[in-house]
Amino acid sequence: MNGVARVFFLSSLVFGLAGLLLGNIMAASHDHTQLPTHAHTMVVGWLSFAVFGMFYHQFPAAAASMLAKIHMAVAELSLLVLIVALYMLYGGKMSFEPAAAISSIVYALSFLLFAFIAWRAVSAKR
Ligand code: HEM
Ligand code: HEM
Repeated sequence: MNGVARVFFLSSLVFGLAGLLLGNIMAASHDHTQLPTHAHTMVVGWLSFAVFGMFYHQFPAAAASMLAKIHMAVAELSLLVLIVALYMLYGGKMSFEPAAAISSIVYALSFLLFAFIAWRAVSAKR
């Protein structure tokens, strides 16, 4: 795996480990306040990012494009901000609400970009 595929897949492992750590802490402490933080770290950070990595590994031409690099940078950064903001928000720090709102909108836009990249790559005749 190289480039964008490699970054997505390796970071999905880091998000997965962090999310599982949080899940175990929640289970052990019987305090599930951080459920949304755990859930989004797992399903976006681990599952979605692993899928992005596999996708770009299968479509090297799409992975080599500037759009794919933009998708990677924006998705990684916005998810990182979103997870920190969710953690603080559900920890009671309401001042993190704008960070959560902005990062979630930016993440959604990055997914829109991915949908364009993937649609174009998958529907192209070989
Ligand atoms: C060692 C493994 C794990 C532990 C100890 C753990 C722990 C937890 C706990 C304590 C909750 C809160 C349950 C509740 O309050 O209803 C939860 C929810 C959740 N977990 Fe995990 N988890 C683990 C692995 C995973 C994995 C591998 C994924 C996804 C790939 C995942 C995704 C979710 C999701 C989506 C929710 C929210 C479910 C809902 O909304 O009802 N978890 N987890
Ligand atoms: C980045 C934009 C996103 C926003 C703003 C968002 C927002 C939300 C909100 C407000 C909830 C309800 C939380 C609650 O009732 O406590 C939720 C739940 C959930 N979302 Fe998302 N979501 C986003 C992205 C995603 C994505 C991309 C996935 C899947 C890949 C996902 C999977 C889930 C799951 C499994 C739950 C149930 C677990 C929970 O209650 O936290 N979300 N989301």
